Amino acid sequence: MDHWNAIETHPATPLKALFDTNSDRVEQLSFEHAGIYFDFSKTHMDSDLLEKFAHLAQAKDLAGQIEKLTHGDIINPSEGRAAEHTAERGIGAEMSVHHARLLRNRMQGLILAIDEGLLGEIEYIIHLGIGGSALGPELLLEALKLGDEKYETAVISNIDGCALEPVLERFDAHKTLIVLASKSFTTAETFLNAASVLNWMREQGVSDPFGKVVALTANPEKAVIWGVDESRILPFADTIGGRYSLWSSIGFSAALTLGMDVFDDLLAGAAEMDRHFQSAPLLENIPAIAAFCDQYYCQARGCETRAVFAYDERLRLLPVYLQQLEMESNGKSVTSDGKPLDRHSSPIIWGGVGTDAQHAVFQLLHQGTHLVPVEFLAVIEPGHSLAEEHHRSLLLNCFAQASALMTGQASDDGNRNYPGDKPSVTILLDDLDGRKLGALIAFYEHRTFVNAMLLGINPFDQFGVELGKETANALLAGEGNKMDPSTEILKNRAFPA
Ligand code: F6P
Repeated sequence: MDHWNAIETHPATPLKALFDTNSDRVEQLSFEHAGIYFDFSKTHMDSDLLEKFAHLAQAKDLAGQIEKLTHGDIINPSEGRAAEHTAERGIGAEMSVHHARLLRNRMQGLILAIDEGLLGEIEYIIHLGIGGSALGPELLLEALKLGDEKYETAVISNIDGCALEPVLERFDAHKTLIVLASKSFTTAETFLNAASVLNWMREQGVSDPFGKVVALTANPEKAVIWGVDESRILPFADTIGGRYSLWSSIGFSAALTLGMDVFDDLLAGAAEMDRHFQSAPLLENIPAIAAFCDQYYCQARGCETRAVFAYDERLRLLPVYLQQLEMESNGKSVTSDGKPLDRHSSPIIWGGVGTDAQHAVFQLLHQGTHLVPVEFLAVIEPGHSLAEEHHRSLLLNCFAQASALMTGQASDDGNRNYPGDKPSVTILLDDLDGRKLGALIAFYEHRTFVNAMLLGINPFDQFGVELGKETANALLAGEGNKMDPSTEILKNRAFPA
């Protein structure tokens, strides 16, 4: 029997029975690291299934792949390069770690200069970027801002002017810094937004708008050609993928707004998780165990989605961040050597915030026909000073939902029957600071990596996004053959000749 087959035919013992027959279940399936508690006991994982995954992981040489990842070896074969996000956190090839440190010093220098007013009086920051050049910085800002920051920072990604216009109405052009974040320095949305911000500055009488631009990119030559002075270009290594880039200079706007100390804590927290991932035995390795659960539900239980609910408003952008991380990394149909993948790759990631989601989508989770593994995230220390009842109620709702999904409640009336046996993972942070957030995001990166290694796919390329870009460019240029009839009618309806 092959390893996948052993997993797929593992007896589907109900959660209740798993608890009834093992009084140590919670202890055995919960782990703590870097101020974060991970409880996998409400999944169908048991020691036998873990063993089966350990065999699969050995067959896929997971240990060797982790070694390659964290030593800067080529791990992205289709683009022939390493994936060096951990080097930003001090773990990787010696030269890459050294290089990352030098570039971070440069970023710190520019932050100091801006703080001291060397670019004039700055009160507002417009961070322009999309995908990995926006989601990470925005998540950091939302999660870690305290409300007393020196700068007001807006992250604008969408090409839709409805995103940018209100910011331009609110900000003072004379006190605004433009941060242009683009790994490739070619992304259409980012440059259309940049052109509009520069125009706005000119219209408002700013004499040298380009003097207020900071560029964050792995393509510094292009930034120079575009018109940014070298002293305001913060490069990062080409071996850092867009969705793994918040640790690099792409995190500049967050570091400037929140403080370099917070950013350093973020990197230190991520490094704590990196070291755990590198050295923990497989059956205690938290990202690996999370990935084993993911694969079990995808491959053995036919789950096509996973839902993530942050019971903390500060983490409301986490599900969106994870959508890019997991779906752009692992939404593939071929293996690393180009052969068709014979099983499902990434599940569809969706989610929201608790308790809001309870009053909107939890009906389906409790009684729908789809089995959806759920991830609950909560933070023990509240992020506000209102009455204790707010936070107590928030956390207890979170725990109640996970319990109710698992336990269910039988009724002869089908409408009122809760089948239960619905799996969930709970991730509980002691508090929300740079260190814990860094460790949490690194946990998700490594989990995504393990999922990819088990499937044998390359999580570090994203060719799937190219066709849509090309088609949009052809439409914009009005070039080439006619589109399909439906697209032609839509185009003519929106833009009559
Ligand atoms: O289109 C997908 C993508 O390439 C992402 O992988 C990336 O994070 C995003 O676009 C932005 O790219 P860039 O940072 O080069 O502007």
